[in-house]
Amino acid sequence: MSFPTNFRWGVSATAYQIEGAVDADGKGPSIWDTFAHEPGRIADGSTGDVACDHYHRYPRDIELMTGLGVDSYHLSIAWSRVQPAGSGPVNPAGLGYYDRLVDALLEAGVDPVATLYHWDLPQPLQDGGGWLKRDTAARFGEYAGIVGAALGDRVKLWVTLNEPFVHMAYGYAFGVHAPGQALLFDALPAGHHQLLGHGLAVAALRATTGSPVTIANHYSPVRVLGGTEADREAGAWYDALHNRMFTDPLLGRGYPEGFQMPVCDGDLEVIAAPLDALAVNYYAPTGVRAPQDPDAPLPFDLVPLDGYPVTDFDWPVVPEALTELLLRLHREYGLPLYVTENGCSYPSTKDDPERVEFLSRHIDAVRAALSGGADVRGYFVWTLTDNFEWAEGFSKRFGLVHVDFDTQQRTPKASYHWYRDLIARSR
Ligand code: FCB
Repeated sequence: MSFPTNFRWGVSATAYQIEGAVDADGKGPSIWDTFAHEPGRIADGSTGDVACDHYHRYPRDIELMTGLGVDSYHLSIAWSRVQPAGSGPVNPAGLGYYDRLVDALLEAGVDPVATLYHWDLPQPLQDGGGWLKRDTAARFGEYAGIVGAALGDRVKLWVTLNEPFVHMAYGYAFGVHAPGQALLFDALPAGHHQLLGHGLAVAALRATTGSPVTIANHYSPVRVLGGTEADREAGAWYDALHNRMFTDPLLGRGYPEGFQMPVCDGDLEVIAAPLDALAVNYYAPTGVRAPQDPDAPLPFDLVPLDGYPVTDFDWPVVPEALTELLLRLHREYGLPLYVTENGCSYPSTKDDPERVEFLSRHIDAVRAALSGGADVRGYFVWTLTDNFEWAEGFSKRFGLVHVDFDTQQRTPKASYHWYRDLIARSR
């Protein structure tokens, strides 16, 4: 089976991971600027202060995109460039940067796909409580309206939030990402307020742009390990938390049972604002079983999945789980789907046969989901250039293009040429 006409072939990246220029042109600090500078937070002691210096080098990166033949580029917009304090005055120079970037992409024949929020909350909003506070949702809605009014005529697909589950879990429950809070279940309001912000952002985008709107969730099919009823219950609980909590409410189904959220009257209607698609970030399934320690604070244990090759992140390579996931989302929610992130880290420089194999098997998995009836509209490789991989710093390399972070030299890897040929053949 071939890919549908107009299927989007793209690459994804995000502001903090590539832009650098963290205080250029009036940008305010974000929680990632703060967090990365705290001792011990980032594995290799690095920060995103310079990263790939994409802020200054984006013309070169767009050349790499046109060389690849992608028709779409999924970027994220740094809220703290647009509104340095997260509320109040707009910073025209920050917005101007995205204005130029979007124009340069269009001129190169690459459609801009833009995420409004990829984990980089303006620090002043965090100082007021961040996503634990309801007010942050309203601020996000306002910011979405500002960006929609400025770029809504040119961005071809909008993504409100990136992976609210990961942001809540890593940032607020376990403290391994910014803002570094380890609140366990008390982190749940950060989930609800992100979804409320999403709903308000959908309304703001509908008022300012005619382009389709979606939200990107991180999905991880659950593999229950162990054969007891308790293991199955732990698996279902984890699936509700990771895979359903941030999707069921979008479709008007409310939160899965058992999660106490600070829902006010009308919130669920705001969150269920009609969407044009679901955006899917997929890397690997998760092994789950009942907690082995009766005093464990969580009702599940996460366990490594044996029997699969693993990436440099130790994530198992299981392409068939992507087919399973896309078919499940199609069956349960019925919306068009975009795979907005999929990729792998390997330490290789120019020759990266493991990445070629990974991508080839996952693109076949998308094809299988299409054959099974899922309405998949696009596939985006994570990521174009090696970049700042959050808590791992520069120690994990996901790029189709190698970056020497001392010289900023970009060198396409074998997977870049492979992806270029695949796109050319698939059109
Ligand atoms: C995803 C993130 C993205 C990148 C990849 C490897 O969860 O959205 O920024 O870090 O993982």
